[in-house]
Amino acid sequence: MKVLVTGGAGYIGSHTTLCLLENGHDVVVFDNLVNSSPESVQRVEELSGKKVDFRRGDLLNAHAIDSVFAECGIDAVIHFAGLKAVGESVENPLKYYRNNVIGTLNLLDSMEKSGVRRLVFSSSATVYGAAEHVPLSESLPLDATNPYGRTKEQIEDILSDLSAADPRWSITLLRYFNPAGAHESGRIGEHPQGRPNNLVPFIAQVAVGRRDKVLVFGSDYPTPDGTGIRDYIHVMDLAAGHLAALQYTGNKTGTFRWNLGTGRGSSVLEVIQAFSAAAGRSIPYEFVPRRPGDAARSYADATAALEHLGWSAQRDLAKMCEDHWRWQSSNPFGFATEN
Ligand code: UD1
Repeated sequence: MKVLVTGGAGYIGSHTTLCLLENGHDVVVFDNLVNSSPESVQRVEELSGKKVDFRRGDLLNAHAIDSVFAECGIDAVIHFAGLKAVGESVENPLKYYRNNVIGTLNLLDSMEKSGVRRLVFSSSATVYGAAEHVPLSESLPLDATNPYGRTKEQIEDILSDLSAADPRWSITLLRYFNPAGAHESGRIGEHPQGRPNNLVPFIAQVAVGRRDKVLVFGSDYPTPDGTGIRDYIHVMDLAAGHLAALQYTGNKTGTFRWNLGTGRGSSVLEVIQAFSAAAGRSIPYEFVPRRPGDAARSYADATAALEHLGWSAQRDLAKMCEDHWRWQSSNPFGFATEN
C-alpha cells in the first residue's frame, strides 16, 4: 500500500514512517519542516534501507497537496502535520486554528477530489480536557481546555461528520497519551525546538547537561507522591498502533476511535527516577507551583485498542527512558549540530 504521511519528518511521524517501510509499505512524506528536520527522513531511509518519497510542502497550500495526490497514487493517509505547543496556542489561537483546522480541510478536499477516503488522524488525549475519571475511556465527552486541544477536537468532529455524510470514508481517530522514547538505534528521536514543554525531553536535556534542573510542576496533587500522573507511551508502540489501525480498518468504513496508551500511570518523580537509572546519573530537580491547566492524573483505558486492534503497548517506562537516553546522549542537540 502507498501511504501519505503528513508530518512524517516529525517525532511520531518519523517513527511511524519507519514502521510502515519495515512492514512493506511505500511512503510519501509531506512536511513543511517548521518543527522537524529533513535529517530525520534520511535516517529513516538509512535504518530501513528504503527510499522515502519526501515532498516539502505546507497543507495551507492547497495546490501543493493536490499535486501529491495527482502524482503519487496514494491509497491511505496518516495525518500528523500540525502545531502542538499548548502555551503558544493560547497566545496565538488563530495561528493554531488556521494551521491545524484549515490545513486538515485542504487535505480532505484533495483526498475527496482524488477518491482517497482512508485516513488515520493523530489526535490526543488532550481532547478529554481535565476529566479526572481515570482510566479515560473513548466514550467520555470531549472537553479540550486550550486552543491546541480544541483544534484536535474540532478536527475529530469534522472527520466524524464527513464519514456520517459519506459512508465511503474510513476514519480512524487515535488519541495518544504521553509519547516518549525513541527508536532503539538512537538514530531518530524527538527534536524539540527551544525549551521543551513536555517532561521527558526536558529531563533528557538536564541529563545531557544542556539544562540545570527539572522544574517539577506541583508537589501537592492528590497522588501518592504529590506529583502529576501521566500515561507515558513508547513512540515505537505508538507507531505500531498506527500500523495495527491501518490493518484493522482494511476495507472497513465508518469512524473508529481508539486510545493509544499503556493503561498505567507514572508520577513525575517516578519518571525522573527511571530516567536517572537509564542515564546512570542523578538528575537534579526542584519543586515549583503547579502549571495552570494540568490535571492530577491522566491515563488510558487501553482495552478497546486491545480488543479491536489486538494492539497493546509492549515497552515499559524503563525501556522508554533507555531508548530516549540513547538518542539524547548520541545526539545532544537532536538533528542539529549545536544549540
Ligand atoms: C501536554 C499538553 C497536552 C499534549 C501533551 C503531549 C499541557 C497542559 N498539556 O500534556 O495538551 O497533548 O503534552 O504533547 O501542556 N511537568 C513537570 N515539569 C516540566 C514539564 C512537565 O513537572 O518541565 C509535569 C506536568 O505537570 C505533568 C507531567 O509532567 O504532570 C507531564 O507533562 P507534559 O509532558 O507537559 O504532558 P501533559 O501535561 O500531560
